[in-house]
Amino acid sequence: MLQGMPRADSHAARLDAFYGPQAAHYDRFRERLLHGRAELIGSLRLPPDAHVIEFGAGTGNNLRYFGASARDFRRVELVDLCAPLLDIARSRYAGLPHVHAVHADATRYRPTQAADCVLFAYSLSMIPDWRAALVNALACLRPGGTLAVVDFHIAPPHPAPGFSRHDWLTRQFWPRWFAHDGVHLRPQLLPTLCAAVPLHEKVESRGPVPGLPGLSVPWFRFSGVRA
Ligand SMILES: C[S@@+](CC[C@H](N)C(=O)[O-])C[C@H]1O[C@@H](n2cnc3c(N)ncnc32)[C@H](O)[C@@H]1O
Repeated sequence: MLQGMPRADSHAARLDAFYGPQAAHYDRFRERLLHGRAELIGSLRLPPDAHVIEFGAGTGNNLRYFGASARDFRRVELVDLCAPLLDIARSRYAGLPHVHAVHADATRYRPTQAADCVLFAYSLSMIPDWRAALVNALACLRPGGTLAVVDFHIAPPHPAPGFSRHDWLTRQFWPRWFAHDGVHLRPQLLPTLCAAVPLHEKVESRGPVPGLPGLSVPWFRFSGVRA
């Protein structure tokens, strides 16, 4: 990660070059950095035969947070633009024919049937056109389906009532720190999710960052029901 996001012609090529060398160790390092994934997924109430899509699924590690119930899901689509991470997902779930690792862009991929749940775990912050990915995700969901998002967070300078406020240093430091790795903390993300899916729950929190003792990065988790 210290080298940052490499320059390349396309977003997919940048992701391959960035994650390729660290793919084998990806899950171990991110375990201590990507907070709230288990809590978010553990809080979801899905039908036993759910159809779940994760956009930006990487190695597919998050499927284990669904526990044994994931074996009964009707279909799971792990969608990612990064081939080296998807290769790990593909071999990890080779024995589960209902789990599909799909090389595709989250802004465009459409399933053949509407899904019960669409999940973004620390992926919207890496997707350049995150608004297009959000619009696409809502189009992939059936009415009554669940949109679940967990990601790093940064508050706007003047947050609306009900949202956390971050001090000036927090708002300056974390977006710059993460931009080096192609991770973009966007003040508009959480308010946009809340406005797009009015029936929702959200939690805002902070968590430690490996290698930066004493500092904590803001993150949020969100789940909402599509009208
Ligand atoms: C920080 S990783 C998170 C991976 C996984 N969700 C997790 O919790 O470990 C962000 C992921 O988003 C993927 N990604 C970035 N842009 C994407 C896009 N436009 N379409 C699909 N996946 C994308 C990256 O390749 C990477 O696997």
